[in-house]
Amino acid sequence: MPCPALPDGFDFTDPDVLHHRVPLPEFAELRRAEPVRWIPQSGNVAGFQDEGYWAVTRHADVKYVSTHPELFSSTLNTAIIRFNEHIERDAIDAQRLILLNMDPPEHTRVRQIVQRVFTPRAIRALEERLRTRALNIAASARDRSGPFDFVTEVACELPLQAIAELIGIPQDDRAKIFDWSNKMIAYDDPEYAITEEVGQESATELIAYAMNMAADRRACPAKDIVSALVAAEGEGNLRSDEFGFFVLMLAVAGNETTRNAITHGMHAFLTHPEQWELYKRERPATAAEEIVRWATPVVSFQRTATQDTELGGKRIKKGERVGIFYASANHDPEVFEDPDAFDITRDPNPHLGFGGGGPHYCLGKSLAVLEIDLIFNAVADAMPGLRLVGNPRRLRSAWINGVKELQVSTG
Ligand code: HEM
Repeated sequence: MPCPALPDGFDFTDPDVLHHRVPLPEFAELRRAEPVRWIPQSGNVAGFQDEGYWAVTRHADVKYVSTHPELFSSTLNTAIIRFNEHIERDAIDAQRLILLNMDPPEHTRVRQIVQRVFTPRAIRALEERLRTRALNIAASARDRSGPFDFVTEVACELPLQAIAELIGIPQDDRAKIFDWSNKMIAYDDPEYAITEEVGQESATELIAYAMNMAADRRACPAKDIVSALVAAEGEGNLRSDEFGFFVLMLAVAGNETTRNAITHGMHAFLTHPEQWELYKRERPATAAEEIVRWATPVVSFQRTATQDTELGGKRIKKGERVGIFYASANHDPEVFEDPDAFDITRDPNPHLGFGGGGPHYCLGKSLAVLEIDLIFNAVADAMPGLRLVGNPRRLRSAWINGVKELQVSTG
């Protein structure tokens, strides 16, 4: 069946689309009429020198692609659905050193090592320190007179601190780590006036910093997580360069995602006051997952078909790219009752905000849920009367549902 309501040439990865809104009506139209649809691209806009990609919009199909890495590779064209038209192929290929863009067996080996960082015990060990940080962040925002930007004053800080705590970055070095992380993730939006070169330089500096850290610990092991990952050579440990790319991945994967979940969550609460009242009264444990479903900070990733295959009644050819749209899956009425309602008591909540299952499922999920819980508990206690002062200013991006600024006030 054709898709009458989808404008000709509409591309879900066009950064101008997410700059204005998440295209929920267009996703709904595709799910209804053509759940797997070819989106043509001309002029190398995404950097892959090809003709476009398949948009996969139903919850069941996003799960299917995610859980069949033998059919859908993360490495052939990486998981990033759009770079820019000027990128060199070498620069795309260099991204394959990051866990997110690996296929088995390399992925299995590296993931087995790095998941030591994310054991329930390791996350629990961070909880009290992160709680104190969350309380301090909320208290200093409360003490500001007049309106303030929720993104910079509240949402940014905890995700950065959490990653620094997780891998034991010394307090004195955190400012420069934060600066590199912010520059790396900001260069898609012209407003930040950060060139791609500066973004690349920051990535290189961060990797070099982490590699030095690894070399130090190898020479002089301590009782910390870096030593556990790198201290002995061999199959069960990371090389220094692998550790460098792991830290780079955390700085990208763990920062902007959680920051945007927190910002969208606050905006959702302030535009759904009955949910905010309910939260303040009952603090339901289900709230964080609903915030991630509602926000879906990562709108999409991609895979590349390793062989001819079929999906949603369409023939996918070997080498074609397949975009998995988590934001669409998270509004699929076949799975979610009243999917457009923000309901912090939703249970069960099988959203795909952390991925569609399978080998790449978000490693930082428990940490992210903990951070979201801690920050909203702290904000609800410190600033129960918080109110919106302006509309969110959105990030221009091909695949991140981002907010740059959200003006709020306690008075
Ligand atoms: C609300 C916050 C977050 C969201 C929405 C999110 C989302 C995602 C998604 C969609 C994936 C890809 C899943 C797939 O391809 O199947 C992913 C992977 C990953 N995430 Fe998260 N993430 C969040 C927070 C974090 C945090 C806090 C960390 C760590 C500090 C983290 C570390 C990772 C890593 C290392 C991977 C790659 C796993 C792999 O390829 O095996 N994430 N995340």
